Amino acid sequence: MKSTPIILLLILSTITLNAQKTIDDRVDSLIKIMTLEEKVGQMNQYNGFWELTGPAPTDGLASKKYKHLELGWVGSMLNVRGVKNVRKIQEIAVNKTRLGIPIIFGFDIIHGHKTLSPIPLAEAASWDLEAIRKSAEIAATEAAAVGINWTFAPMVDISRDARWGRVMEGAGEDTYLGTKIGVERIKGFQGDDLSATNTIAATAKHFAAYGFAESGKDYNTVDISSSTLHNVVFPPFKAAVENDVKTVMNAFNVVNGVPATGNKYLQRDILKKKWNFQGFVISDWGSGVEMINHGFAENLEDVAVKSANAGSDMDMESYAYVNHLVASVRNGKVKEEVVDDAVRRILKVKFELGLFDDPFKYCNEAREKEMIYHPDHIAASLDMAKKSIVLLKNEKNILPLAKNEEGILVVGALANDKNSPLGSWRIGSDDNSAVSVLESLKEMNIDFDYEKGADVVVGETNFINEVKVNNTDKSGFGTAVEAAKKAKKIIMVLGEHGFQSGEGRSRAQLGLPGIQQELLEEIYAVNPNIVLVLMNGRPLTIPWADENIPAIVEAWQLGTQSGHAITSVLFGDYNPSGKLPMTFPRSVGQIPIYYNYLPTGRPGPKKAVFWSHYSDETNEPLYPFGYGLSYTTFEYSNFKANATNNNQIQVSVTVTNTGKMKGEEVVQLYIRDKVASISRPVKELKGFDKISLEGNESKEVTFTLTEDELGFYMPDGEFVFEKGTFEIMVGGNSKDLLRQEVILK
Ligand code: GLC
Repeated sequence: MKSTPIILLLILSTITLNAQKTIDDRVDSLIKIMTLEEKVGQMNQYNGFWELTGPAPTDGLASKKYKHLELGWVGSMLNVRGVKNVRKIQEIAVNKTRLGIPIIFGFDIIHGHKTLSPIPLAEAASWDLEAIRKSAEIAATEAAAVGINWTFAPMVDISRDARWGRVMEGAGEDTYLGTKIGVERIKGFQGDDLSATNTIAATAKHFAAYGFAESGKDYNTVDISSSTLHNVVFPPFKAAVENDVKTVMNAFNVVNGVPATGNKYLQRDILKKKWNFQGFVISDWGSGVEMINHGFAENLEDVAVKSANAGSDMDMESYAYVNHLVASVRNGKVKEEVVDDAVRRILKVKFELGLFDDPFKYCNEAREKEMIYHPDHIAASLDMAKKSIVLLKNEKNILPLAKNEEGILVVGALANDKNSPLGSWRIGSDDNSAVSVLESLKEMNIDFDYEKGADVVVGETNFINEVKVNNTDKSGFGTAVEAAKKAKKIIMVLGEHGFQSGEGRSRAQLGLPGIQQELLEEIYAVNPNIVLVLMNGRPLTIPWADENIPAIVEAWQLGTQSGHAITSVLFGDYNPSGKLPMTFPRSVGQIPIYYNYLPTGRPGPKKAVFWSHYSDETNEPLYPFGYGLSYTTFEYSNFKANATNNNQIQVSVTVTNTGKMKGEEVVQLYIRDKVASISRPVKELKGFDKISLEGNESKEVTFTLTEDELGFYMPDGEFVFEKGTFEIMVGGNSKDLLRQEVILK
């Protein structure tokens, strides 16, 4: 390893001599000797470029970035892959620049790096906070082992619109659940010691309201009330800050007409001032320069000025700061204190990661080899996947299937797909690294035949191109139908290709893509004994299947161990316990549809037409938030809800497993504030407890509701608790609930 520049050694030596010097002191000492160019350099993040193991690039953008790297004008890089490449870049930053300030390496470690856990929406369906945290811990371990210090996750955007492709990346529609999950994921990524070589800095993203893109169209306008902003959108971010998230990523969209990257209200008034956020804000990819498209910035210099003054500390791939911020400070459009504050925040995270103590501590090739696909990670990924599966229907208990069942036919391209189960955010993992359903059935020595029936998409697919849906090629239908006539039971694996959800992948129709619905109906016509396994990155509108198919299993995109998790449920090795984190619409026309809606002035139903409804569709969803079946059944009894003298409500309920099979139940607690200073939702999740019960076992579950759960934000952002009547509800989903009213005087 080449020597560290003498000047940095001097700083470090004086600092280490006084070991009690805090990180803040070390940061201040460093900032004092940095030039303005070097400071601005820390605010510049570049995407990984040239093939590092080859010669440095000599022309074009890559060579310009390389020169900036050597000048110390790059503070961070993203998408650099593997220890060798990270080391190559770090060596330039540490050994060739004047101050040798190390680079921080970011990557989208959304649900794992090489070993992938289920997509975040699927993980949310587990309601298992411990498993979710473990999943993030494993992701951090593998990421840190390949030289990454920082993940652009968790995405904590609440969304009520399944047309939006990025619902796969979040925790669904509910603020309470999304907040709890976001905090666990941050704890999993960051651990207790950020300087450890198995922890990485996390990012709460996208600040703010990106999940409310109009008509579910990605990158579209957002226009929501301040009440929704404060009560629905902000809480997961506020909790992230309270749990020491190191970075926050802003967003592509406007809030109140101002692009998030140039939004002072969001980044300075709320995030840094009201919530006292101590980390740094990273822009989204090009979200700075896109302010020109928004008609909010004139040119790149204006982008630099507006972004910096609004509190966007680091520029991802807009080239605004590296080209214009120095001049903007010199001409007075941006105060140097603004730059110093941003640089202080960035350097602090680098010190906390231990990068100044050892810039190559994350570059250990032996550890990289040992940690990638570690057996413990594979096992945890399988556990998480099983817990994420939601049983939506199981008529006449067709499930679980017997392992010695004869005459099983498997139909569907996704049954043989080793990539789609990895989801769209698999850029760090390896192609074809998922266990398919067919592979798992073979490993289990299940006797089955297979017919593809129809491709979901045709042609080459990748992270950036539009997929081409197969709407015409039915050449596989004939043999599939003939095979179905002879089969006893049919497992149909249908749904979305992995690149039909995710960023840039909004859909206006939410049925089974392509000709899969026709395939399902043609198979059903000759043999109705079908178990439908859905593989998808978002809620789908499948009313025909719900009406006709005896068993439906929601298997999302379950990551590396997908096939094994699905067969574990189908053949009863694991009793499904998942609950939907997002409402399934009956039709797209109902969207946005969510459980915690406001009552409106005209709830129904009413005899006349003058109430809030459709003439051609019910108001009810296909499957409600919090819904999921088990192979056993649960009964709720002995429900009590009582006010205490300090404005709290004590809740207790007895849950009994009324079947023979051991099972897990997510006991859910909802409230309704009947009369308040603003209209409050008909119900809101304010507690849950996932419990395991043996057959015929009972357990009392208790909750305490405090002002924190009973209160809400006024449109101006003030949190208030108001006494009065509260409806308290408990149950195994957001629809079938025991209810009691409690008055807080
Ligand atoms: C993308 C996404 C963001 C991601 C970033 C880096 O456009 O919006 O979530 O972290 O760019 O890949």
